[in-house]
Amino acid sequence: MRDTALLPPTEEELPHLWQKPAFDVLLAGLKKLRVELRVWTLHDSRRDILEEQAATAHDRREIVSFLSTIIKSSLAWLDSDDERELIWEEASKRMSERCGRTAMGEITRCWPFEHCDHGSFSLAIREPPLAGDSLGLKTWGSSYALAQLLHEFAAGPLAHLFVPGAISTPEEVLELGSGTGLLGLAAACIWKTSVVLTDLPTIVPNLAHNASLNMQVVEERGGRAEVAPLTWGGGKDGIDARFRALNRYQLIIVADPLYDDDHPALLTSAVDEQLALNSDARVLVMVPQRDEITKGLLCTLREELAQRPHPLLCLEESIVDGQDDWGDEHDHDEMGNVGFWWGIFGRGQPASA
Ligand SMILES: C[S@@+](CC[C@H](N)C(=O)[O-])C[C@H]1O[C@@H](n2cnc3c(N)ncnc32)[C@H](O)[C@@H]1O
Repeated sequence: MRDTALLPPTEEELPHLWQKPAFDVLLAGLKKLRVELRVWTLHDSRRDILEEQAATAHDRREIVSFLSTIIKSSLAWLDSDDERELIWEEASKRMSERCGRTAMGEITRCWPFEHCDHGSFSLAIREPPLAGDSLGLKTWGSSYALAQLLHEFAAGPLAHLFVPGAISTPEEVLELGSGTGLLGLAAACIWKTSVVLTDLPTIVPNLAHNASLNMQVVEERGGRAEVAPLTWGGGKDGIDARFRALNRYQLIIVADPLYDDDHPALLTSAVDEQLALNSDARVLVMVPQRDEITKGLLCTLREELAQRPHPLLCLEESIVDGQDDWGDEHDHDEMGNVGFWWGIFGRGQPASA
């Protein structure tokens, strides 16, 4: 049976333009068609998602046709130009929401976290409209998938860094390519630690906005978050003062960093410059297995890391299921499901030893 609270109105439930519906009726109909962006979870019932998607696909053509009829109509029966403008604007927004994430305006999504180890909290993350290839203005699936595993890493393969008073306890965790900041802010909350979130200078203003938006949540949970620009392979000129002293960080985290041919080498240089040289230091990386190109970039990253003078070797790895909305539907199955690979790297013996 159809759950009207969850699904958009059907064709029969939409107002008919030939009946010249009143302004209020049209506006209410358009508001009901708002597309709410999914927050990915690893625990969604497959059946629920399939039912929701089937219903959405069935109704999509009728809804788009309804919206374009409104946009083309003169709406001559409405009382004023202001009312007409509002209806056209609202119909255009509903249309652009159906053109995918890249056509959408600014949104703020709430990302829930709940586990007996760390209790429940949520982070509000702003995503401005995407501009050019500024992929860091969008939140990618692996940042949420990795954030939901952080408590397990602290109790498992990264436990030696979280023993209170241990010499290798990180004073600060460094995140590279933070984007909108979901992973780094979650790390500050879940690990109750200080995290420096970094990205390209163009991405930093929105990242800083999200850090201040969530500062209270982070601090209430015993964490700290700071934001700074850090360009991988950016050289020493203009580098933020805190990154000039090299090999300072005991723990570096990074989600979804590989989508260009030069990323494995650039990321390797940033990791190698910033990660401490001792054998306790670790890098936690997540790379979605979305296509053969990304899998190839991950192979190159492993090779690059292993070839440094102080080689970085993968000590533990696995793949978890998750959801992503990168590219088109050919890159993942119809549910948007992809495998998210994670790996933990540590320093091996120097090549000359
Ligand atoms: C696919 S996004 C992932 C963002 C975020 N980690 C997430 O999962 O939502 C890749 C990120 O790497 C950043 N990035 C790409 N090249 C970079 C470089 N040379 N230096 C620093 N950051 C870079 C991008 O700006 C972007 O934020």
